[in-house]
Amino acid sequence: MKKQFKRTLITTALPYANGPVHIGHLAGVYVPADIYARYLRMKGEETLMIGGSDEHGVPITIRARKEGLTPQEIVDRYHEMIRQSFADFGISFDIYSRTTSQMHYDTASDFFRTLYDKGAFTEQSCEQYYDEEAGLFLADRYIMGSCPHCSNENAYGDQCESCGSSLSPTELINPRSTISGSVPVMRETSHWYLPLDRYEAFLREWILDGHREWKPNVYGQCKSWLDTGLLPRAVSRDLDWGIPVPVEGASGKVLYVWFDAPIGYISNTKELRPHDWERWWKDDSTRLVHFIGKDNIVFHCIIFPVMLKAEGSYILPDNVPANEFLNLEGEKISTSRNWAVWLHEYLEDLPGKQDVLRYVLTANAPESKDNDFTWKDFQARNNNELVAILGNFVNRALVLTAKYFDGRVPQTTAPAYEYDLRTLSELASVKAELQRYLDTFHFREAQKEAMNLARIGNKYLADSEPWKIPADSPRLASVMNMALQITAALTVAFEPFLPFSMQKLRNMLNLEQLPWSRLNEHLILLPNHALGSPELLFEKIDDAVIEAQMQKLMNTKKANEASESKPYRAEPISPTISFEDFAKLDIRSGIILECEKVPKSDKLLRLLVDDGLDKRTIVSGIAERYDPTELVGQQICFIANLAPRKLRGIMSEGMILCAEDADGTLSIVSPDIKVLPGSKVK
Ligand code: MF3
Ligand code: ZN
Repeated sequence: MKKQFKRTLITTALPYANGPVHIGHLAGVYVPADIYARYLRMKGEETLMIGGSDEHGVPITIRARKEGLTPQEIVDRYHEMIRQSFADFGISFDIYSRTTSQMHYDTASDFFRTLYDKGAFTEQSCEQYYDEEAGLFLADRYIMGSCPHCSNENAYGDQCESCGSSLSPTELINPRSTISGSVPVMRETSHWYLPLDRYEAFLREWILDGHREWKPNVYGQCKSWLDTGLLPRAVSRDLDWGIPVPVEGASGKVLYVWFDAPIGYISNTKELRPHDWERWWKDDSTRLVHFIGKDNIVFHCIIFPVMLKAEGSYILPDNVPANEFLNLEGEKISTSRNWAVWLHEYLEDLPGKQDVLRYVLTANAPESKDNDFTWKDFQARNNNELVAILGNFVNRALVLTAKYFDGRVPQTTAPAYEYDLRTLSELASVKAELQRYLDTFHFREAQKEAMNLARIGNKYLADSEPWKIPADSPRLASVMNMALQITAALTVAFEPFLPFSMQKLRNMLNLEQLPWSRLNEHLILLPNHALGSPELLFEKIDDAVIEAQMQKLMNTKKANEASESKPYRAEPISPTISFEDFAKLDIRSGIILECEKVPKSDKLLRLLVDDGLDKRTIVSGIAERYDPTELVGQQICFIANLAPRKLRGIMSEGMILCAEDADGTLSIVSPDIKVLPGSKVK
């Protein structure tokens, strides 16, 4: 039998605070969760939506090290940025907190301690790479070496980004620490493990038998994990950033980030509702729903539930509507390669267009497979759907009412034509479908149904042709009344999807926000109700705007190609020579006395050099790099016994030494303190 729930607790994956958020985050997790939360609230259901930043973990420490900041400084910066972006896009969290809060430290420590005291962990020692110079155990990402599969010399301890194989640090050939550069050694350490294998029977029954209704991608991943067999998972790490393991003798150890982060959902609920948080987490009549991306499935469907189960007093998730990934213009979104549309940049470039992005991301939501965001599609959906269907209908309804009825809702009469009745029945079925889709997390179909409401409105105006009806006919009043009721219904239907625009539309209708149930009414607006003034709900987006965004991506691509092109390798070393061979070279220091360009040559300079015995002329190909005047007085090194040879008709008596960079840039080799001219260089 289906459980009767009294309230819904919605959690949204806590994004890592090591970078800003992009459209992939919004499409995969936060827009769907927000649509769902708004829908439930409109239905009058008791609902909380919990969010926050995930502020522990190795990537944050790496970023901090790179920027010369502390991890806390990094997470402070990005937590604030992320929080702001979500607020800007109308993601209606009841709380957006963070895992460096005191509340979270206490909650996560207590949770660990409870499991520890119950004997829910096993302790195991293992050997792990240790950096003796830096004095710490190395997380997999902090070790680099050669990949055993391809010969990439810069593979990480957990993965080779060149051939894609996942690795363990001991597989690397010639491992080195990325912190000190030294060669790490194996050292014994010990960790606490959550013995997932002991929960297999429980998980099989709970998920495979009990939650067949979960989305196929989620159910399928769980099944494959369970069929492969589960292993104990370490829940501690040797790291100096995180929540200290609250156990005697665990100094230098912190909770594994994936142990503490999901507890963040609990901590943040506690912070928001200090007095009744337990009602949300420990009462069977609460329905827990986790919104996440597909890479988080195992943590939310297997590991966290095992933690909750082991603790014993918590409810388990009722559903985990995980999404697949959103790509950008056919390529995987990547923070490190800057291949993303960042939310804060979007708002700078397209101010006020939050709802357009929300709409397009929902229309392309990666609900059952990876999906693609393209700027062309963004423009088309804005111009052909938001403007041409929704905006156009609303505008016609309001402008005609302003024109013929002085902006007041006219009286309706009984349905007179076949299409009146048909329209009414179409409206009823759209509403039923919309609700059915929302209840089952099919937001993309749900939004389509909302748009169908506007389509029906447009069709109704086309069928009834109010512009051809005499102004004083009761029929005109009736037609416009119907159009306005559809407009009012749109404010309900679209509210979960387009909250900014629906606020605007309600202002035009002079209407307050309505509960979901009013969607089913035929008469939302009463006759004679005075409307506000009509405005444009959406505007066309020009090609130039889209081209500018495409150009931005092209620039990113170019920059990536430049930096990803073959890593520089110096030229191979020449065949060995004997010391006698070397001793034949007479290299000396000298001082440039005079310097001028060689006529009709771009490259050559004629130098007059004091060699300690005499003055000599040397012709050198450094004119592209040095200005003649800046070289006078400069110390150089030159080969003094090279046979003289003519260059451009000038006898050159020697050759000055330069280092040549990979791109051909020349740099004179010069003693770094003042030496007497003619000093031997050896
Ligand atoms: N920070 C993780 C990610 O971005 C998600 C953490 S979800 C939580 O993949 F449950 F652990 F909080
Ligand atoms: Zn490789």
